[in-house]
Amino acid sequence: MTSQSFTIAIDGPAAAGKGTISKAVAAHFGFAHLDTGLLYRAVGSKVLMGEQPIRAAQALVAEDLEVDGLRTAEVAQAASKVAVIGDVRQALVDFQRSFARRAGGAVLDGRDIGTVICPSAEVKLFVTASAEVRAERRYLELREGGSESDFETVLADVKARDERDMNRAEAPLKPAEDAIVIDTSDLSIEAAIAAAIGVIKEKQG
Ligand code: DC
Repeated sequence: MTSQSFTIAIDGPAAAGKGTISKAVAAHFGFAHLDTGLLYRAVGSKVLMGEQPIRAAQALVAEDLEVDGLRTAEVAQAASKVAVIGDVRQALVDFQRSFARRAGGAVLDGRDIGTVICPSAEVKLFVTASAEVRAERRYLELREGGSESDFETVLADVKARDERDMNRAEAPLKPAEDAIVIDTSDLSIEAAIAAAIGVIKEKQG
């Protein structure tokens, strides 16, 4: 392990495969991994329980990311809603930046890592796929997890989140100018991971 920092920023829309790719990349290179969506989910979940969003974001601690129930569709929508609030985003910046700079390398996945949180990350990937493919994956995941849902509802949820994430004023979802785009619509998980590892190895030199 190196004592220097090396940051890999992986952004993209919901269910494009960035979580799977980020975990695999972190394991491959022995880097730490932060799923930054969990920060917004933890705030969204507190808001569903009656807290005020900005105060909840300012008071967030690492243990809040470990609680059960952050992966539900309801919390995802709540996360996407609190994520439009500039002061909420601001409250979460330091935590993400200090994670990115840790010795030994870090992978952060989210929506604005390459554009706002870590604009000088050594590697920036933008992982995407068509809305239909992403909804299909999410639908199968939900069904495997035992929850009742139909494809049309999941597709509508994915599109609503895309719309909110891409069109907000603060740190909208978009590829950084120097990001490398990986479209996973027609890729297996293995092929998508291999593509990401290939790009990173090239950047490592
Ligand atoms: O990646 P995810 O589905 O867990 O993210 C949940 C929501 O959090 C997403 O719809 C938008 C928001 N988010 C964000 O605005 N910025 C990030 N870096 C990560 C997530």
